[in-house]
Amino acid sequence: MLFFSAVAFLLVLALSSPVEAGKCPRVCSCDSSKLTVTCVGKNLTEIPPTIDEITLKLDLRNNNLQVLSRRAFILTPYLTHLNLQRCNIIKVKEGAFRTLGRLVSLNLAYNKIDILYQESFDGLSSLKELHLDHNRVEEIQPGAFTQLGFLNMLALTHNQLVYIPNMAFQGLHNIKWLRLSYNSLNNLAPEAFTGLFTLSRLSLDHNELQFFPTQTMTRLPEITRLNMSHNPMTYLGEESVSMAKLTHLYLDHMSLQDLSEQALSRAPLLSHLDLSHNQLRYLEPLSGPKELTSLNLIGNPVYCNCYMRPLREWARVGRVKLLGACTGPPHLSDEPLQAVVPLDLRCRSRGEALKDEFEKDDESTETTPSTAKPKQKVKCPVNCDCDIEAQHATCEGRGHTKVPRGFPTKTQLLDLRSNHFHYLSVNSFPGTSQVVSLHLELCKIHEIEGGAFRGMKKLFYLYLSDNDLKSLDPGVFAGAPELTYLHLEGNRLLQFPGSALALLPSLFVLHLERNAISKLGPAGLLSSVTPKLRELYLTNNTITSVAKGALDSAFLGTLYLDSNQLTEMPTHALSEAPNVEELNLSRNSIRWVGPNAFRPVSQSLKRLYMDQMGMEKMSRDALAGLGPGLRALTVRGNQLEELPDLSPLTGLEVVDLQDNPLLCDCPLMPLRRWMENVSLEVIATCGHPPEVRGQKVRDVNVFASCPQSGFPSDGKVVTAPRPPKVKTPKASLSKTPGVKARPAKSKTKLLKPTKNKPQRKPVKPKVTKNKKTL
Ligand SMILES: *[C@@H]1O[C@H](CO)[C@@H](O)[C@H](O)[C@H]1NC(C)=O
Ligand SMILES: *[C@@H]1O[C@H](CO)[C@@H](O)[C@H](O)[C@H]1NC(C)=O
Ligand SMILES: *[C@@H]1O[C@H](CO)[C@@H](O)[C@H](O)[C@H]1NC(C)=O
Ligand SMILES: *[C@@H]1O[C@H](CO)[C@@H](O)[C@H](O)[C@H]1NC(C)=O
Ligand SMILES: *[C@@H]1O[C@H](CO)[C@@H](O)[C@H](O)[C@H]1NC(C)=O
Repeated sequence: MLFFSAVAFLLVLALSSPVEAGKCPRVCSCDSSKLTVTCVGKNLTEIPPTIDEITLKLDLRNNNLQVLSRRAFILTPYLTHLNLQRCNIIKVKEGAFRTLGRLVSLNLAYNKIDILYQESFDGLSSLKELHLDHNRVEEIQPGAFTQLGFLNMLALTHNQLVYIPNMAFQGLHNIKWLRLSYNSLNNLAPEAFTGLFTLSRLSLDHNELQFFPTQTMTRLPEITRLNMSHNPMTYLGEESVSMAKLTHLYLDHMSLQDLSEQALSRAPLLSHLDLSHNQLRYLEPLSGPKELTSLNLIGNPVYCNCYMRPLREWARVGRVKLLGACTGPPHLSDEPLQAVVPLDLRCRSRGEALKDEFEKDDESTETTPSTAKPKQKVKCPVNCDCDIEAQHATCEGRGHTKVPRGFPTKTQLLDLRSNHFHYLSVNSFPGTSQVVSLHLELCKIHEIEGGAFRGMKKLFYLYLSDNDLKSLDPGVFAGAPELTYLHLEGNRLLQFPGSALALLPSLFVLHLERNAISKLGPAGLLSSVTPKLRELYLTNNTITSVAKGALDSAFLGTLYLDSNQLTEMPTHALSEAPNVEELNLSRNSIRWVGPNAFRPVSQSLKRLYMDQMGMEKMSRDALAGLGPGLRALTVRGNQLEELPDLSPLTGLEVVDLQDNPLLCDCPLMPLRRWMENVSLEVIATCGHPPEVRGQKVRDVNVFASCPQSGFPSDGKVVTAPRPPKVKTPKASLSKTPGVKARPAKSKTKLLKPTKNKPQRKPVKPKVTKNKKTL
């Protein structure tokens, strides 16, 4: 019997052509009419090699694949659905899916993937859904998603993301829903979501965001629904939510103590606001949203006295449905907010009202533990607020002249900004070993003694911005070895504080904007002192020179030298920082950019900003070496009459050439042709000759009579002397064979809807003290 069926099976195999055969691997079950193959829970360590080529749906759940190698699916190119859940996958090698150009749905949930590599998802050009939830993703490498131009939904919930870097999701031109719930996000870079022009829904619930990421969110023009529940935010300040199309906002289960009445003033279309399960005692009418229909205050200790009257009245007039109930005073307790009559919301007198409230609090801590939390029992220094549950303590702006002591031992966020400490002595923060984030902005500090932060073993973020520091003691950061983000912007530092940084082996981001540093150097500065430094911000100092060796670091990726006094390109210095990806040189006075200026960083550079430098000339080889890797280039507001050939820069997504007096004559022809060729909106204006001044390069006719030959191939562009003026016949352009100059009105055609990205003026990650988190 066995023998016969085996023979029969072999016969079938032999007789049918492979395409129709419906061969089915031994451990799998196959449905040849639906073209599906299922091999679930077989402890497979590799993908069965005999799966029929024409298979559309492949289900490999619960196996033991571990590593997906390059072109792992080369034998099944027609797949539309691939399920790899729970396959114990640790690594997806670059190009693993490269052969799956028809795949629509890919499920990689419940694996052990920790890094998303640059090319992990290359080739998935039809993919609509990607499930990466329940993995261990902690890093998204730049460009991980660039080839997923059709993706609608990306699930990255239940991973280990702490930080989302700039442009992390670049390339997702059709994304609708991005799910980042259940991670440990405490920081989103300002441009984290840049480029997601179609995203309408974003889930960020169950993370560790302590502040509303205003800047980051503002970059998401189409968002209608935003879920931020279960993040430890305590306060929403003015204009925190600046999102023009937002209709649904979930801010429930956070630690909100208060909310500015202007917090939502820039969310005009908001219709549903969920503030349930916070610690709001009252709320003012919210200005901004005109369409609000429901406001959920369930689970807040709302105290129904006269302070609530404006809200009640506003809700009545605006027909906003209020959900939730009063927790006091006694005669109104448990009364639904919607049912309370404004006239019943009374205070005997303003002063008394407050007293009333506090007395009630006191009582409740002793007798009825029902409503207000027993905050009074918490150990907390005088003139500070400590929130045990949220592990925050704040003494912001309370006029302290000495650092208060005696915070709850579990405090993680200590906010002391806007006081008058002047001087910090050794051991200024005893008993704060759990503090992760320390705010000391605007405290008039002019000196910090060595060891001031001793014992702060977990300190990760330190904000010393906007003080009066002129120098730093070499021992200042002793005892705080975990420090990773250091803000020193807005002080008066005269020198790069190299020796102090030597105690910070983990330093990753350093802000030194708005100081008085005039030189960078000498040799060996970075690599020996802060080997892990990744981002260095030196904007708005008085730097005139960067010594060779000053930037020597193989790790440095972001370098901001803008608004300084450099007169030359720091090419030498860059040669020791070969991995710089983002370089801002705007607002220096560098008139000339010579050949090979960026050659040392040509393999890594992705964004280059050179606006308003008074630049008069760029060598034709100024950008030599830069190629498809460059994503952004700006030279706005200079004095350039010509530009180098941009055609090797095939990866550009942002380009800004505006406000240069370009010489619109035959030498500019390569630029003109390049502009027509790229799917970017490039605005460039003629400054010469006089008859076309102010016109768009794209619109002028002068090129029509340029000779066709000579460029760009052999680069016959005349450089120094101006070519003779060209008298331009207004006649039809098409007469000149081969020149694809278009008449002005075809301008809109350049805006191809899919590939084209609106030109964006890049915005510097503003160094706000409070919006950055933790
Ligand atoms: C699965 O395969 C691995 C190695 O291939 C083996 O060690 C293990 O015992 C197998 N487990 C089961 C349940 O068959
Ligand atoms: C927001 O997130 C919470 C927690 O994951 C979830 O229960 C809720 O359904 C989400 N709300 C919306 C509208 O997506
Ligand atoms: C540089 O900083 C000074 C002082 O903080 C400020 O007034 C000025 O506007 C800044 N300049 C630029 C270009 O940002
Ligand atoms: C236009 O684009 C094509 C393909 O993208 C390229 O081969 C060609 O060199 C480009 N021409 C110019 C003038 O940039
Ligand atoms: C680069 O520096 C200029 C001048 O300080 C600033 O205006 C611009 O926003 C910066 N660019 C980016 C992308 O941050």
